[in-house]
Amino acid sequence: MSIPIHTYDVVIVGAGLAGSTAARELEKEGKNVAVITKLHPLRSHSGAAQGGINAALSNEDSVELHEFDTIKGSDYLADQDVVELMCKEAPETIRWAERMGAAFSRNKNGTIAQRPFGGQSSPRACYAKDRTGLTLLQTVYEQALRSGVKFWDEWYAADIIYKDGKVSGVVAFNIRNMEKAIFNAKAVMFATGGYARSFKINSNAHANTGDGLSIVARHGLPLEDMEFVQFHPSGLSGNGVLISEAARGEGGRLFNSLGERFMEKYAPNKLELASRDVVSRAIINEIREGRGVGPRKDAVYIDLVHLGKELIMERLPELRDLAICFLGLDMIKEPILISATAHYSMGGIPVDMDGHVRQNNTDFVDGFYAAGETACSSVHGANRLGANSVLEALFFGRHVAQTILKDLETLTLRKASEEDADTMINEVEAILTQNGTDTVPGLRDELQQSMTDNAGVFRVEESLAKQVKIIKKLRKRFQENCRIDDKSKIFNTDLQEAIELGHMLDYSLFIAQSALARKESRGAHFREDFNTRDDKNFLKHTMAYMDENGDLRLDYMDVTLGKHELRERTY
Ligand code: FUM
Repeated sequence: MSIPIHTYDVVIVGAGLAGSTAARELEKEGKNVAVITKLHPLRSHSGAAQGGINAALSNEDSVELHEFDTIKGSDYLADQDVVELMCKEAPETIRWAERMGAAFSRNKNGTIAQRPFGGQSSPRACYAKDRTGLTLLQTVYEQALRSGVKFWDEWYAADIIYKDGKVSGVVAFNIRNMEKAIFNAKAVMFATGGYARSFKINSNAHANTGDGLSIVARHGLPLEDMEFVQFHPSGLSGNGVLISEAARGEGGRLFNSLGERFMEKYAPNKLELASRDVVSRAIINEIREGRGVGPRKDAVYIDLVHLGKELIMERLPELRDLAICFLGLDMIKEPILISATAHYSMGGIPVDMDGHVRQNNTDFVDGFYAAGETACSSVHGANRLGANSVLEALFFGRHVAQTILKDLETLTLRKASEEDADTMINEVEAILTQNGTDTVPGLRDELQQSMTDNAGVFRVEESLAKQVKIIKKLRKRFQENCRIDDKSKIFNTDLQEAIELGHMLDYSLFIAQSALARKESRGAHFREDFNTRDDKNFLKHTMAYMDENGDLRLDYMDVTLGKHELRERTY
């Protein structure tokens, strides 16, 4: 049966804030845009962002302070020119979101309310209660629909068409019935989200399986700084569901089993509002040293009772509901149990500041772009500040759309052919016909548990080397001995989860192997055997490439420094 070829100016994969924003901006300029998403757009993970979006709006704040906090928070691995661009454009990004119709929470005098977040010199996070991402996603999706963007909901993008240094489309199937299609375009943008789902305890949606990363890597293109995975300090105990940093921003305090406000030891100036990596390590350290709380002693308390019912109901209603629903604890009346949870991916598909995807340190792929969490523009370096990711998604969604608009003046359409779908067809066929004894949930559990144990908040040579071996073995089992039970064509989630597991296994190798090679501690990457930052040897980005056998080769790329000089990082 022949495979239909749909032709667009631009195809975007992912309908979260970065993807939908870019689509809206391009369609408004008269371009013909398709967005392919494996979900309904409003179920994209951007909607789970709770606490806020940063912009230096108040008289006490400045763009320069925002830059400084971001660069210090990044442990000096961020590219300073990209940080400057994003921070300078943050206030305009907020005004744009308002013009689109987003309703931010307000102060009594009518100005946009801003709350403190970790590692920031000034209250800088604009918010909509504790549903900031959802508010923005609803707004942007509505505007994208209104401008005429075609959303291909519940279509799974399985491959890019990449030849001779140029991307000319995407190959996908309809999750409802396995109908296949080729989306031929002059420009393709990936906005496929993050990769924290490879850890057992994480705050990510089930869909955050990092598909975009492995799709790119399987074509021999690099992934950058994959070792930097952010562990958010406050995931609900047991399942990792996010309890926003807004809880600490509004005044939440952390206590151990001895009733000590333990952040006094780790960050005497900023306390609970030190940056995320610092607070997460403090929490795990308290637990490891036997001062954890809860039935398994694997959590600490966050106490919000002193904030009072009125404030909690006004600013943190969603968080209260989550804690009641999952733990049966009401934060108005009692402390709740939290611990660190894998949350955000600093690494990803390497791009320059305008969103062009890199082929290597110096060359770029023609017609290929990335934005949002899946991209590594290195605006966050080794550790992201809270409320900079929603900003990243909105700002770069718009900015990369401008890049594409400009590039479309010269980009040409390379016509796709049916053979471009061969890789996807073979992948699906292999999964459907294999009849081994391993199952997808079984292998996924082993991957997630071992990543948490060996490549989590604290890492050492032995644990990382062990993890590299584990991943290679899991991959072999997946390729040679895995079976799915559902062989049908209708909503075959077994098949989809198998494809996603293949992606998780591939990019997890990038995380573990890049972490093994980085013999220093920087931001979210903490090596107990090399527990200080080593600027002499490691002030550089990791660029990792996968060969046809699935083995990795590591290379490095310079960090773009600027006016903010390297300093020791204390809070
Ligand atoms: O804690 C939070 O509300 C998460 C925000 C973020 O990751 O930027």
